[in-house]
Amino acid sequence: MHLIRKAQEEDISGIVTIEELSFPVPWPDFLFRADLNNPGFIVYEEQKKILGYAILGIFMDNAHLLSIAVHPAHRRHKIGSLLLEKCMHLALHYGYETMTLEVREKNLEEQKFYRAHGFKEKEIIAGYYLDDNAVRMQRKI
Ligand SMILES: CC(C)(COP(=O)(O)OP(=O)(O)OC[C@H]1O[C@@H](n2cnc3c(N)ncnc32)[C@H](O)[C@@H]1OP(=O)(O)O)[C@@H](O)C(=O)NCCC(=O)NCCS
Repeated sequence: MHLIRKAQEEDISGIVTIEELSFPVPWPDFLFRADLNNPGFIVYEEQKKILGYAILGIFMDNAHLLSIAVHPAHRRHKIGSLLLEKCMHLALHYGYETMTLEVREKNLEEQKFYRAHGFKEKEIIAGYYLDDNAVRMQRKI
């Protein structure tokens, strides 16, 4: 039995664990805490464990996927897809027509995940990350 719901303070340690296992330069926990009021900060919970999270930023002219990650031991079971779909529904709810995101240029596997969800490459942003360029991807919702 799983649940996708708004992130809460008590989820932060589980989120930070996933973050540290997922990214070479993980976000520190205070950045997640600072986002707890954002309705686009969601978690995937199964048997009281946090297995994934996503953060949708609501900006001026489009919805922006700020981050998404699934615990490495639980990947390829559609948890990421469910989180992304929930972000799409939230963006639609807030009246947005497009969703944008950035992904490391070297991160070909994650680009496949987004392509599988209809995102297309829009531009390359040189030096976006400390250690890599970004591919900006976008799709209509
Ligand atoms: C990207 C990520 C969130 C995907 O989560 P997930 O739950 O494993 O993804 P899903 O099971 O929903 O995958 C859906 C489809 O996307 C594609 N896909 C997902 N991961 C993939 C991979 N590693 N390689 C190739 N295709 C992949 C496949 O088409 C997959 O369908 P399939 O398993 O039936 O072939 C997860 O790999 C992750 O946390 N990565 C590390 C963090 C990260 O890089 N986040 C994104 C950068 S901002």
